[in-house]
Amino acid sequence: MDKFVIRGGNPLLGTLRVSGSKNSALPCMAAAILTEEEVVLENIPQVRDIETERKLLTSMGAEVELGYGRAHHRTTISCRVLSDPTAKYEIVKTMRASSLVLGPLVARTGMARVSMPGGCAIGARPIDLHIKGLETMGAQIAYEHGYIEARAERLKGAHILFDKITVTGTEDLLMAAVLAEGETVMENCAREPEVTDLAGLLTAMGAKIEGAGTPTIRVQGVEKLHGAKHRINPDRIEAGTFLIAGAITGGDLMVTQCNPQHLGAVIGKLQECGVRIEATGEDQIRVRSEGNLKAADISTEEYPGFPTDMQAQYMALATQAEGASLVKENIFENRFMHVQELVRMGANIRVDGRTATVRGKTPLSAAAVMCSDLRASASLVLGALVADGESILDRVYNIDRGYERIEEKLRGAGAQIRRMGNVFS
Ligand code: EPZ
Repeated sequence: MDKFVIRGGNPLLGTLRVSGSKNSALPCMAAAILTEEEVVLENIPQVRDIETERKLLTSMGAEVELGYGRAHHRTTISCRVLSDPTAKYEIVKTMRASSLVLGPLVARTGMARVSMPGGCAIGARPIDLHIKGLETMGAQIAYEHGYIEARAERLKGAHILFDKITVTGTEDLLMAAVLAEGETVMENCAREPEVTDLAGLLTAMGAKIEGAGTPTIRVQGVEKLHGAKHRINPDRIEAGTFLIAGAITGGDLMVTQCNPQHLGAVIGKLQECGVRIEATGEDQIRVRSEGNLKAADISTEEYPGFPTDMQAQYMALATQAEGASLVKENIFENRFMHVQELVRMGANIRVDGRTATVRGKTPLSAAAVMCSDLRASASLVLGALVADGESILDRVYNIDRGYERIEEKLRGAGAQIRRMGNVFS
């Protein structure tokens, strides 16, 4: 298993380039199931979860080309033949987002067998709302041997009201609705930019969608969809992570190929902490800090609120801020896996249910730490960048799931970080 060796203390200077969004690319790749024609997606990030999605689609009979040349990070997907509309347990257990194939498989082939996603480090993460929506659209659902089986001659347009806001639930049912018979109205939808990005691809494929990015999405079902070419959004969470890397190290960084419009809550919060941030163009942000950070509370909310995927990274920053910061995690029930590891580095953090109290400023000292889930791992990288001495981060495959060559990017901005062990072992 790969490890990272990080020696803290260097301010990050220069430029960090943001890759395409993993959480946009995953639903957009699944959307290729909806047509027998070729779908070309650009700005695909070179991360493990994309490779997992390639394996998943290929296992169902799709042809998936995936290339990461200097010129392009592109995938070309052809689902002309879907010989086996099944998402197998061996693949689903490594990536819950596999459930995104459920809606498009039923819509395109009339049937889907998807392994129930097991538990996950950050919470139970059921997909009951995905299934309830498909049933509302007329799918017959059965459960056996740990699989969900969904069947429908042709899904029917329906009125769907989500009990809770769910990002992939909104995406899954949006992909089911575009080929359904008649109109579907979905209420209490997720407003994340990844939903809007997916709707952009589906519209380019011939779907009729109104309201993506708002709580109510209206879809007129069509008979068929055609191929399309689409460029994936920049990854707003990678960009946010880099902004915090610049702030926590007291550096001066330009974060490029990002979309400042998607980072309002994060930028606002960092400015409240005393970080100097300015959008210096439509796709770049400059972040500077002299280290005199002030404590500020966060409460994670659905978009456009402060993203849960930035909570762990913010907590690392809060350890370096003067005062007490309250960090409330409202989306997932177990998303404090990074706390104990940060405490081992010297942080003063106390957890009470869904609220962590971070008292700073505490100097962090280098330690051997364990990466757990993707964003907790990013938090440990940020801590190690300011810790005194050399930290060893184990199980960095967790980071490789959602960050493209993060050690190369950070090294390019002056971080002392290297990978031990063979890449993607
Ligand atoms: C997406 O997960 C993201 N993943 C997550 O990013 C992100 O943390 C999350 O949205 C919240 O923003 C992808 O887009 C691939 P949810 P998702 O359904 O869709 C409950 C990362 O780090 N819920 O919006 O699985 C659920 O348990 C990952 O990149 C149900 O109860 O999250 C949670 O408490 C981690 N029933 C809440 O809703 C359902 O059917 C929000 O979950 C679905 C969800």
